[in-house]
Amino acid sequence: MTEKYEIHEHDVLIIGAGGAGLRAAIEALAEGASVGVVCKSLLGKAHTVMAEGGIAAAMANVDASDDWRTHFRDTMRGGKFLNNWRMAQLHAQEAPERVRELEQWGALFDRTADGNILQRAFGGHTFKRLCHVGDRTGLEMIRTLQDRGVHLGIDVYMECAITRLLKDGERVAGAFGYWRENGRFVVFRAKSVVIATGGIGKAWRITSNSWEYTGDGMALAFDAGAELMDMEFVQFHPTGMVWPPGVQGILVTEAVRGEGGVLRNKDGERFMERYDPERMDLSTRDVVARAIYTEAKEGRGTEHGGAYLDISHKPPEYVKKKLPSMYHQFRELADVDITKGPMEVGPTCHYMMGGIRVDAETAQANVPGMFAAGEAAAGLHGANRLGGNSLSDLLVFGRRAGQAAAEHAKQTETPKLDDAQVEEATREMLEPFERRDGDSPYDVHRDLQETMQNYVGIFRREEDLKQGLAEIQGLKDRAGRVHVDGSRLFNPGWHLARDLKSLLTVSEAVALSALERQESRGAHSRIDFPQYDEKWSKLNNIISRDGDGMRLRHAPIAEMPSDLCVILEKKK
Ligand code: FUM
Repeated sequence: MTEKYEIHEHDVLIIGAGGAGLRAAIEALAEGASVGVVCKSLLGKAHTVMAEGGIAAAMANVDASDDWRTHFRDTMRGGKFLNNWRMAQLHAQEAPERVRELEQWGALFDRTADGNILQRAFGGHTFKRLCHVGDRTGLEMIRTLQDRGVHLGIDVYMECAITRLLKDGERVAGAFGYWRENGRFVVFRAKSVVIATGGIGKAWRITSNSWEYTGDGMALAFDAGAELMDMEFVQFHPTGMVWPPGVQGILVTEAVRGEGGVLRNKDGERFMERYDPERMDLSTRDVVARAIYTEAKEGRGTEHGGAYLDISHKPPEYVKKKLPSMYHQFRELADVDITKGPMEVGPTCHYMMGGIRVDAETAQANVPGMFAAGEAAAGLHGANRLGGNSLSDLLVFGRRAGQAAAEHAKQTETPKLDDAQVEEATREMLEPFERRDGDSPYDVHRDLQETMQNYVGIFRREEDLKQGLAEIQGLKDRAGRVHVDGSRLFNPGWHLARDLKSLLTVSEAVALSALERQESRGAHSRIDFPQYDEKWSKLNNIISRDGDGMRLRHAPIAEMPSDLCVILEKKK
């Protein structure tokens, strides 16, 4: 018999309160919907803040020649043409307006001499395009969206983890979850659900992601019948901290290089000359991450296996003004003064280009009533995301998802809740307490992170991916038998026991897709297939549920209209 649980009702339920979730909430409210936002963590604590260097938008404040066409072309080139071109077009066209709107809502930006929003250089962007406030842009965005959303009247459910999407027939009917603090269960009934849960970085050992990023939204959507797309494309940001060990993986913003920082190996060589002589340190992230990894592997790395990143040739006041967080981060965590000497950096798992397959205009998944935006959704970035395009992505597609979710809610009846689904979700959550033996969730998580780090990392090959998949199967068995001690009162081991299920779903999808794509493109580098393959340039990998397993198929990419093809052909 299911215990009594509380029920909340909304037209639109948004899972995730980072930039995409908050922007969706604001738009759905503006459309007249009642909106609930559920977040696993505290409001405002989101990976959005890790996009430190800026929001990419062709405002042309610094380089007057910039326009949406150049931004579109850069995004498509960066994504190695695997992007959903319509998303890339909408993103480039709408980003400037979304930035202006953010400014009207109170966001502070650094300024040009004539008072416009200042823009800086970033990898793969032809022009200085990143609107920023020092190296805290994501934080400023979250602060602004949070203020606006709370003022407009969103209901926020903090420290609440969703474990299952509820269905009414084929459509989404709401969600089931638990309060992290007291372990009590909670049900949300909603006509539309927007998934904005971010990425999957906690599947790797070295990551810029914090504990929340366990792929929940993608796994929930998959379980509820949605398709996942291009899961092989995982971005390793080139510059994470490498030393001391306790801070390994913490992000070192690309803005360091955008402001003139240079990479060197242990011999003092500017090694990017050998990997991308034209763009050097501001090459795309896939190229720079592979370069640093290769330097270290071939014996030219730093003492702790990374590269040196140096901005100490700039005046100290400039560094402190432009990169205040980096200055403090290295002082506090590594006892390094970056105005005086170099940082040690190396690749860190940062972002997921793949995710829930959505419609470009509405952000709707293939399940009626389900929408997805931000990192949880696939398509915009193709095989590799350009830095700064994540913040503009979540503004543009968060807004579109909120609008379409509210519209969908207007046109549909309140869904029915099915007690049997709630009972099953409850049973699943309680099982780990009932087992007398079995692994600790922490051990399984550690082993998964090692597996992904070793076999599904920056460079991949068939035997490693097969080994990774075999280990993931073993870990799934172990995760299905984990034992948890204690009670449901704030019990992180119990929470992790559930998160493991999501982590394993997305990890399997990544490894399976990586094995399937027999070429190298963007962030996906196969040692055994080092070249592009024309055949693969027209195909997305699509994963869907097949009983208890996964089915992988290829879907052809839609033909691009001729006016967009012309833009891509231009040099600048
Ligand atoms: O390096 C950074 O500041 C990260 C930006 C991003 O991921 O977009």
